[in-house]
Amino acid sequence: MANVAVIGAQWGDEGKGKVVDWLASRADIVVRFQGGHNAGHTLVVGSETYKLSLLPSGVVRGKLGIIGNGVVVDPLALLAEMARVSAQGLAVGPHNLRIAENAPLILPLHAALDRAREAARGERRIGTTGRGIGPAYEDKVARRAIRLCDLAEPATLAAKLDELLLHHNTLLAGLGAETFEKSALLESLLGLAPRLLPFAEPVWERLDEARRAGKRILFEGAQAVMLDVDHGTYPFVTSSNTVAATAASGSGIGPGAVGFVLGIAKAYSTRVGAGPFPTELFDATGQLLGDRGHEFGTVTGRRRRCGWFDATLVRQAVKVGGIQGLALTKLDVLDGLPEIRVATAYRIGAETLHRLPAAAGAQAAAQPIYETMEGWPGSTRGARSWADLPAQAVKYVRRIEELVEAPVTLLSTSPERDDTILMRDPFEG
Ligand code: GDP
Ligand code: IMO
Ligand code: MG
Repeated sequence: MANVAVIGAQWGDEGKGKVVDWLASRADIVVRFQGGHNAGHTLVVGSETYKLSLLPSGVVRGKLGIIGNGVVVDPLALLAEMARVSAQGLAVGPHNLRIAENAPLILPLHAALDRAREAARGERRIGTTGRGIGPAYEDKVARRAIRLCDLAEPATLAAKLDELLLHHNTLLAGLGAETFEKSALLESLLGLAPRLLPFAEPVWERLDEARRAGKRILFEGAQAVMLDVDHGTYPFVTSSNTVAATAASGSGIGPGAVGFVLGIAKAYSTRVGAGPFPTELFDATGQLLGDRGHEFGTVTGRRRRCGWFDATLVRQAVKVGGIQGLALTKLDVLDGLPEIRVATAYRIGAETLHRLPAAAGAQAAAQPIYETMEGWPGSTRGARSWADLPAQAVKYVRRIEELVEAPVTLLSTSPERDDTILMRDPFEG
């Protein structure tokens, strides 16, 4: 099978955008299948930097982008992003972007509820991106979501808004937030309809045709396994399934068509938002990783928390995410460190565990057991061949492969598109 799914193996921001952009040269179609504009993917191509949230990263390569039904689509955010990239010389229109007609929409009331709830949580907040992702997925599952196709049926839309507002205005009022008015919402959605409907189609049909024609499909995951609503550090997670299996249900294709699953992991760890992070560093090394790695959220601008590579966690992500090969990114950020640590297990009370347990209390109590390795003198930054890497850096990569029980098939050594080392082409399986 010549398709590839790219997913994050940690807590997001592993460099999925860079890897997808690089791999897109070998693909015909790039498909987003979950998440929304909570994602932030930075692509550096020569002197141009693209920051994408909702647009599949393949559009920068001129490939057809598809937003699948598993994505929650904020129409205003999408149009704003299209305008942004168009100012960078990248024209996005129905010729190179198709959106599943059954994709649920994010409305302003979702972001309002997301923020009101976070404010009410106070110290116990999740640290969401405040973009309405959670409330939009809740509405989808509760069968009251407005979907893209509803914009073509004003009567359906009006009836659905009644149900939606009954629910949301009750909650918003209870939280002391401003409520929404039906007429204004309806007018705004009907106004957006002619701009959005030209993108809408049954994407499952196009994907089926592409598959039968032997085209290569690249599935672009957002967020990461540890933010998966089932497998992540619940409740400090996003509201979608981020594992590769979702590529099938989130785009309307069979599980057999997903192909090779490439997990992306940083050579260390970061996390935005709250929640357990066993290998987090609060010292000068953590600060250094953050500074060198420019660890600021693409979407939130918030500084990311930083720590050592957690092999126990990535191994777990490999298992539950079905990861067959790993792309290791940001190795260059570790250049020159005298020693590097890797967590190989956790201690929780008197117990030693080789997985992160599901219970929140146990997760918070997990203390990493570290293995310490020598760092490397010299630089890996910008390396484009395996032979350019210092011997100790190669040793680090090899040790990670052993610990996480997956081969490193791709290595990224700078933000720049071509500073990438391919060990095994994922499209070859
Ligand atoms: P994504 O959400 O997984 O797509 O990742 P982000 O784009 O949010 O964050 C990754 C950041 O690391 C971006 O600023 C990239 O430009 C940058 N990046 C990606 N790969 C590398 C790498 O190998 N080395 C360095 N130094 N930066 C990288
Ligand atoms: P990419 O695709 C990192 C985090 C938020 C928060 C939690 C829930 O760039 O890797 P949400 O708004 O989804 O309800 O927030 O998930 N989060 C991300 N962290 N990278 C992302 O996307 C993220 N998308 C959501 O910080 O902790
Ligand atoms: Mg990101």
